[in-house]
Formats: sequence, structure tokens, C-alpha cells
Amino acid sequence: MKGIILAGGLGSRLRPLTKVTNKHLLPIYDKPMIYYPIETLVRAGIHDIMIVTGGTSAGDFLRLLGNGAEFGLKDIYYTYQEGEGGIADALKLCEHFAEDNRVVVILGDNIVQDDIGPFVRRFEQQDSGARILLKQVEDPERFGVPELDGDRILRIEEKPDIPKSRYAVTGIYMYDRRVFDFIRKLKPSERGELEITDVNNHYIAEGDLHYDILEGWWTDAGQFESLFRASELVARGR
Ligand code: DAU
Repeated sequence: MKGIILAGGLGSRLRPLTKVTNKHLLPIYDKPMIYYPIETLVRAGIHDIMIVTGGTSAGDFLRLLGNGAEFGLKDIYYTYQEGEGGIADALKLCEHFAEDNRVVVILGDNIVQDDIGPFVRRFEQQDSGARILLKQVEDPERFGVPELDGDRILRIEEKPDIPKSRYAVTGIYMYDRRVFDFIRKLKPSERGELEITDVNNHYIAEGDLHYDILEGWWTDAGQFESLFRASELVARGR
């Protein structure tokens, strides 16, 4: 299993904080944001990690993280996404890195309390397909939202006006090799991005998207309120 952290994009929602630095280098309580997804992957036993960066200050990732010795890693792979073509566009850059392995993908602005190791182990036991993690939230309209029927996900809608459940699709995704074939089929959405939600809907169409529900807290840190909340959650969780 290989790990991928998507830390591209331009962080436009956090301007002016992101005018001269990269969103994923901003502080969450006592550490830069990018530390958290790295720690999440390492805690789950994943040591082969690629970071997709982009926008401004990309070189600072190398200065900050080096080869990842601080996290117990031997090395870290980096690549660069031009522009803000979407989450699936950033993931596309990792096909070569993934080779024939399955991947655990985490968005660089997602901070999670739980050890995701047990979910990764369940994914390893699947013959094929994908696995996503859901979390009940107050404001599902800000996220990808699943329509559920018991154990099955019928469809995921990206930022729907009228959410079909109270769950958010968190930015932690587990995929088999087919993910790169599905990305090749995508067309840009109304916001001009290759959407990860469309990738997940391809897996649903194949009857091969499974899910677990996170018990601990989870947040993104991509807007002022959630950036602030992330620091509070981390500080209180100590
Ligand atoms: O946080 C979970 C949510 O993340 C999901 O519920 C949504 O389905 C998913 O689309 C995404 O929603 P956002 O609109 O909040 O994603 P955002 O554009 O803020 O990007 C989140 C991270 O993804 C960002 O910190 C870095 C990475 N990214 C994003 C874009 C647009 C890239 O690496 N490249 C990109 O071009």
C-alpha cells in the first residue's frame, strides 16, 4: 500500500493567508498543516509517501520536510501540480508512483483524530474497489454528500443544496489501480475541476465503493472557520 497526500491547489479561499505561502504550510495549533496527513499515514503503517504540491512556496515543503526523517521515513516523493485543476487532477500525477499498488489518498487539509489503520486493513481485505470514510457533520452542504441505503452508497453529490444525508465524504480515500482509468474518463465540473466525487461515483457504478464511519473528530482546514476549528480540536485533543 502506498500513500498519497494531495497538497496542490492555490488555497484561494484562505487569501490573504495564502498570498505568499502555501495553505498546507499554515499552522494548525503547534505544527504546519502538512504534518497531520503525514502522521495519519505513518500511524496507519504507510511509509511509501508521495506529496503533490503546487502554487506558491512549493520549495518550502522540501526545506520543511526533507526526506521525512522526523516522521521515521527513509524518503518522501514529491511532485508538482500546475494550477488548480482539481483533486482528481492532482491524483492523476501519481499514477507512475503507484505502479501496481493500491493507494491511500488523503487531502492535505484534512485532520483526523482516529487511527485509520483499521480501515486500511479492511480495504486490504477487499478483492478490489475503493473505500471511503464518512463523518456525520452539521453542514454537509460544504462537502461531498452520500445518499445511503443501508450498507450501500447510492450516489455522492458534491456540495448539494439539499443534502441527502447528514454525512460528509471525508478527504481520505482508498483505491485500487482502476482509479487512474476512471480519472482518464472525467470531464471538468462546473467549477472547472476534475472532481474526486466523480471518481467515487464511477466506483459506485461498478458496485465497488465501500465505506466506514469515523468515530473521532474530523475536520478540513480550508476555510477560516475550519482552519480555526482545526487548531481548537488539536489543542483540546492533547
Ligand atoms: O474535505 C473533504 C472534501 O474535500 C470532500 O467532502 C469533497 O467531496 C471534496 O471535493 C473536497 O472538497 P473541497 O472543495 O473542500 O476541496 P478543496 O478544493 O478545498 O481541496 C482540498 C485539498 O485538496 C487541498 O487542501 C489540496 C487538494 N487539492 C485541491 C485542488 C482543488 C489539490 O491537491 N489540487 C487541486 O487542484
